[in-house]
Amino acid sequence: MKLDHPDTHLLVLTGAGISAESGIPTFRGSGGVWEGESVARVASLSGFVHDPARVWRFYSERRARGRDAKPNAGHLALAKLEEKLGDRMLIATQNIDGLHQSAGNTRVVELHGNLWKSRCSRCEREPIDDAAEYSPEKLPACGKCHARGEFALLRPHIVWFGEKLSSGVLDRVEAFIRRARKHRFVFLAVGTSGLVAPSSQFVDVARAAGAETWLVNQDRPANAEAFAHVVLGPSGELLPALLQR
Ligand code: OAD
Repeated sequence: MKLDHPDTHLLVLTGAGISAESGIPTFRGSGGVWEGESVARVASLSGFVHDPARVWRFYSERRARGRDAKPNAGHLALAKLEEKLGDRMLIATQNIDGLHQSAGNTRVVELHGNLWKSRCSRCEREPIDDAAEYSPEKLPACGKCHARGEFALLRPHIVWFGEKLSSGVLDRVEAFIRRARKHRFVFLAVGTSGLVAPSSQFVDVARAAGAETWLVNQDRPANAEAFAHVVLGPSGELLPALLQR
């Protein structure tokens, strides 16, 4: 992948696969997070309303597992690249683990929220930093609502199924594409099954905007046909060499 041209703009879409080598399980497939888990119960607003303790148990487990995770060679290769490309690079990630930022990337759009934040399930306050694990007997309540004499639970700052992405998130990706299309534009997807919209459609939008399209993934995903270049294997091994060329 040629990235040394001074005009090159790079949009990177990442999914759970890029964090697999950091010990964070992917969602689909054998051993994945969704295996044996009811998505509707733990990752939807109706699931939270019905049984908030179950939802908090699920995300508390995610926090416990993710707490000691470190960026792997794939994250670090992308961080090194941002040092070179600066504003000519943007990462749009479906991941909630924060590992791109831990690796050093600053231009990161979190499409599905962040595991290390919570927000009120009722009021519009800004999400707060929150890495706590909660037991069913002690679910977290919103302090702002409490001060007004109302009761509302905090919820994980995650985009659940059936919910819209946070405002401004897609705007940032679209603004980048509008700028990139006037230059040499490269789109790279890493570690994603291509099954969840709107991210699964980014490759089509990028291609229509003239991008050279690359995919680095362990297995051939659902939307592999949409990419001009497909490189199969673990991203922690492949990215350092691929991004240096
Ligand atoms: P998936 O679990 O659907 O897919 C992970 C992809 O990563 C698969 O195609 C694997 O082949 C690939 N993979 C696994 N290990 C890899 C490695 N070491 N290197 C490269 N690729 C590897 O994860 P996502 O596509 O990210 O949403 O899932 C998208 C969304 O669906 C998630 O953000 C989550 C989920 O439901 C929410 O929770 C809102």
